Amino acid sequence: MSSALPIGIFDSGIGGLTVANAIRKILPKEQLIYFGDTAHMPYGDKSPEAIKFYSLKIAKFLLDKNCKLILIACNTASAHAFHELVHFLGDKVPIVNVIDPVVNLLANSPNHGRIGVIGTKSTIRSDIYAKKFKAINPEIQVSSLATPLLAPMIEEGFFNNTISNTVINSYLSSSKLKRIDSLILACTHYPLIKPEIQAFYKGKVEIINTAEIVAEHLKERLTALELLNAGPVKKHQFYISDYTPSFASSTRLFFGEKIHLSYKPIWD
Ligand code: DGL
Repeated sequence: MSSALPIGIFDSGIGGLTVANAIRKILPKEQLIYFGDTAHMPYGDKSPEAIKFYSLKIAKFLLDKNCKLILIACNTASAHAFHELVHFLGDKVPIVNVIDPVVNLLANSPNHGRIGVIGTKSTIRSDIYAKKFKAINPEIQVSSLATPLLAPMIEEGFFNNTISNTVINSYLSSSKLKRIDSLILACTHYPLIKPEIQAFYKGKVEIINTAEIVAEHLKERLTALELLNAGPVKKHQFYISDYTPSFASSTRLFFGEKIHLSYKPIWD
């Protein structure tokens, strides 16, 4: 496999662009090919079977684009479809999810005895974080809370305002999140509301931004595989399965700059 090939990234929609943004900062020489399954968003309300089906088809699309590694930049798809993708495609391409790098880092570092997790209904129902922490360090207590209003609220541009403040404060006041040391933002949309979450906790709880941890992990993984690109930088490509102008105008919020989204109807 050539190190000049692109990294494939996918999410249910444009939330995974927060991870793509962290990756391009840490790995500026890598070409990214992003697929947002906007036709099926949100995954947070879908069954595990549907999420596996969508994820496999998207991963095959990225494989056809010659990606040297595929990153599932969605917690919901990571929770339900990672093993499926490794089973069917793992012999052709390395597959990385957004959960393991975070769990491995926190489980082996001090000061994370009581961890809160917020994410979509489907991610929280899977109990994936608690199971993975328990497998590495049974001492760690994990309390999870589904926060289904947050992703659509952010997509609609509601953050840093009184409405988002009310919704965020109401969720974070849940008894499930009392007495935690750190909080994992287990949805790729949530980096956009990190300042509001930080303001709620006033420095008493460490807010874990998974995007940066995943980007660092990717760097280590590509280094170990001797797949870091040293050649010329190629243009990133962004595909979505359903096009609306609102997705196009929101990309700047998630990726830090306006990007061109190409409509790719892989479901036809
Ligand atoms: N980006 C998805 C995740 O990280 C959440 C959005 C959705 O429900 O599709 O879980």
